[in-house]
Amino acid sequence: MFPSRANKHLHRLLTQCKRQQYGDVTTRKASRLVLGIETSCDDTGAAVLSEEGTILGEYLISQKEVHLRTGGIIPSVAQQLHREHIERVVQEALDRSGVDPGQISAVATTVKPGLALSLGVGLKFSLDFVRRHHTPFIPIHHMEAHALTVRLLQPVSFPFLVLLVSGGHSLLAVARGVDDFVLLGRSLDEAPGDTLDKVARRLSLIKHPRCSTLSGGQAIELLAKDGDRSKFAFTTPMGQMYDCCFSFAGLRNQINMTIEKKEAAEGIERGTLLSCVNDIAAATQHTVACHLAKRTHRAILFCKANGLLPSDTPTLVVSGGVASNEYIRKALGVITMATDLRLLCPPAKFCTDNGVMIAWNGVERLREGKGILPPHADVSYEPKAPLGIDLTSQVKAAAIQVPPIRINIKRTSA
Ligand code: KG4
Ligand code: ZN
Repeated sequence: MFPSRANKHLHRLLTQCKRQQYGDVTTRKASRLVLGIETSCDDTGAAVLSEEGTILGEYLISQKEVHLRTGGIIPSVAQQLHREHIERVVQEALDRSGVDPGQISAVATTVKPGLALSLGVGLKFSLDFVRRHHTPFIPIHHMEAHALTVRLLQPVSFPFLVLLVSGGHSLLAVARGVDDFVLLGRSLDEAPGDTLDKVARRLSLIKHPRCSTLSGGQAIELLAKDGDRSKFAFTTPMGQMYDCCFSFAGLRNQINMTIEKKEAAEGIERGTLLSCVNDIAAATQHTVACHLAKRTHRAILFCKANGLLPSDTPTLVVSGGVASNEYIRKALGVITMATDLRLLCPPAKFCTDNGVMIAWNGVERLREGKGILPPHADVSYEPKAPLGIDLTSQVKAAAIQVPPIRINIKRTSA
């Protein structure tokens, strides 16, 4: 976790270079620096970014392996682990950036949405920090941060369409500005990452020799590479609903019933690995991909019909943990190809939760002077927080029919 001796030496040299580049508090015409802190779910992350978007230092401790062993996130355990890690994570991000707390121009922290007990740890730590160092505070909406991360990596101007798919969320929105979003669709029940995690648990993939340390989504993607999706025909959800919302609970039910039938046919107990596990993984992944692709297709057509996207380089950004799935990216690529959109997916490291995306959202807000609070402001966290102006009923009323497009992604064996 911490750097070895040789690494430490290299680290000191890099820190010196950064100090020369960004100056010491006493000597430089300062580039403003933002410390970002993320604790909304099961990752404790921190990062320091310059106003120009250079990542000066970052650090992340993931709790995912712990929660994998307990069969899901137990909020009180997540809270305890955030408490144990937060000081070290923030200190390591500061050390790696070669920046002292007094040099930080603003602290940006996720305050919504997320697990109450987890959000509380990051918020308390941040408020103590800003009060001690007299630093402005920028409260961050976690989904807004996921949506804007792409702009740290490459120039993408507003407006653009964004699909956010993770363990806690699935939504389609138009990002029109740093704090200006229009919501086109959201999940009516569970999020796709949650569904994949639950299916993986039902299949006992943790017992699979190739999957024991992988998240549900990663395990399903890996096994699907050696599976035949046509062995199981799951119905794509919400075929008769002409809106852009998502639903995954019914699909999970279909999959669970299939698993039960197969267990009975093979004469094995629940908790034993099925012989057809690769095929179930492939069919599950395909159906999730088709559902996401169909709703996104309708969102694109709605945006086109209502002039919500620019005619010059209209863009779809896909992010969140589930967006690291190559098959899902390819399925969305089929849709963007057919509709002449540019598809952008940040690399997996930036799709999952991290401190960099929170610091970047802080930079975007600092640049525009939006949502910056004094250190003694009264701030509380919000476990539930919708994103932007809700247009979901207008999308439903438009009832746009999507022309059929075959999602036929070739298998690439693992
Ligand atoms: O964004 P994230 O790190 O945390 C939040 O939920 O906010 O996303 C984690 C989710 C988990 O449900 C995990 O199973 C899923 O993303 N995931 C994947 C893949 N990697 C992670 N789902 C599908 N394919 C993947 N390769
Ligand atoms: Zn997230």
